[in-house]
Amino acid sequence: MKKRVLGTLLGAAMAATVLVGCGSDNASKDSSSKTATSGSEKKGNSSDGSGKIGISMPTQSLERWNRDGAYLDDQFKKAGYETVLTFSDNDSGKQVNDIQNMLADGVDLLIVAAIDGEALNTAMNEAADAKVPVISYDRLIKNDAVSYYVSFDNYTVGKLQGEFIVDKLDLKNAGDKKYNMEITAGDPADNNAPYFYQGAIDVLQEYIDAGTLKIVSGQKDFDAVATDQWNTDTALERAQNVLSSYYADGTQLDVWLCSNDSTALGVAQAITSDYAGSNSVLITGQDGDEANLKNIVDGIQTMTVYKNVSNEAVVTLALAQDIIAGKTVDASFVDSVDIECAYDTESYETSDGNKCPSFLLVPNVITKDNLQDLVDTGLYKMGDDGYLSANN
Ligand code: BGC
Repeated sequence: MKKRVLGTLLGAAMAATVLVGCGSDNASKDSSSKTATSGSEKKGNSSDGSGKIGISMPTQSLERWNRDGAYLDDQFKKAGYETVLTFSDNDSGKQVNDIQNMLADGVDLLIVAAIDGEALNTAMNEAADAKVPVISYDRLIKNDAVSYYVSFDNYTVGKLQGEFIVDKLDLKNAGDKKYNMEITAGDPADNNAPYFYQGAIDVLQEYIDAGTLKIVSGQKDFDAVATDQWNTDTALERAQNVLSSYYADGTQLDVWLCSNDSTALGVAQAITSDYAGSNSVLITGQDGDEANLKNIVDGIQTMTVYKNVSNEAVVTLALAQDIIAGKTVDASFVDSVDIECAYDTESYETSDGNKCPSFLLVPNVITKDNLQDLVDTGLYKMGDDGYLSANN
């Protein structure tokens, strides 16, 4: 959506550090130049597009991963690579098999968006043994075999949701006014989910403490509001339970903080069918799924945090090319791509406590008022009815 405008403060702060992958615990102390693989001899051998890339996506049942899979597959193919693309039906056992099959098939590099990061340790260790570099895509796999992490700034996604609520309800000037809120978070197996949740809570906590925002159900902790597999029906059922238990007496609900669009869809359905009040409830989301964009046009959902996953695929391709070419990958990488992203060597680490070098793209708030920004990306078109649909 946006041109790259700056390397970000974080990127600049980390500029002196050369890292070689999440497992390279001593790399930040070592100033000598390193190449970009996690193994000592990388398997791929050129950036000219010769090589086979394994792309393992979690599921086709959540809209965005279809796009990620298609963009990655398309961009790698256009760059001349052979690709193997799998979707694992949100079944982590199947994802392990899919990755093992890719390794048996001789892939030169793996791109993995994990269903359950923990469940992939065996497959990751096998990738390390085979000296196949791994890019952890969007969701961090906390295993030292991972070379790099490419994602959006997940904490900022939640922060944007929290800040939107503060602005929209004008909480800073709320005085004695009180608002009722509920929360729906993401899948506990997804490393991103607590980041989204915490980003929002850190913004909203002072208003919760002051009593300006009240969580009527009392269900606030991540575990109490999490949604297995980000499933829309699961979010719907919990929302219906909350509404019938705490709002059936006419208590007004003002806000439902939802971590993403698939959960927001379930919550919006529950509000439409089961909420007794007549006010419009502020609902947040993330991704820009078509059904949610329609809900935004119709005033059923208030905002979404949009993440341009085409750009995420572009950054991933550029990174993979450098890894395969054996180039040094460090903060200077962000200058080589025309997409705003930060090089962050502090925020994410593996289960063994090693920092994972990450490239984090920038998310944007989308509301009814700036839907045109999505059209301007070239990835969506607006129909005569005002609804957006993806251009693919
Ligand atoms: C992604 C979100 C997505 C969610 C469910 C997360 O890991 O970052 O964009 O909404 O998974 O698919």
